[in-house]
Amino acid sequence: MAYSDKVVDHYENPRNVGSLDKADPNVGTGLVGAPACGDVMRLQLRIGDDGVIEDAKFKTFGCGSAIASSSLVTEWVKGKSIEEAAKITNSAIAEELSLPPVKIHCSVLAEDAIKAAIADYKQKKGV
Ligand code: FES
Ligand code: FES
Repeated sequence: MAYSDKVVDHYENPRNVGSLDKADPNVGTGLVGAPACGDVMRLQLRIGDDGVIEDAKFKTFGCGSAIASSSLVTEWVKGKSIEEAAKITNSAIAEELSLPPVKIHCSVLAEDAIKAAIADYKQKKGV
């Protein structure tokens, strides 16, 4: 299967790979898996007390499209409020990366990871 140029770019030069400190009360961690293929994505967001996302890191054990989707969303969410970040849809990710239909679930993983990281943050903060 041919990957689009943008997928190859993110796959070869992934942005923001790594970890944030889970013990930091301002860090939300989202860990999600894709039932379709068994791939796993971890996305962490550090959120300021003003609700703006200051940093984002990911680790993805999965295909090129999943890695590209997570790399892309770490770039997209930085500087956004959590409300704005929660509105990022898998279709916007799939469109940006020109994902073919069989790879749509990889972008769903990234959307789910954002939502899971925000939910974890809110739970930690009790908001
Ligand atoms: Fe094998 Fe996603 S299906 S890496
Ligand atoms: Fe399953 Fe990409 S996340 S093939």
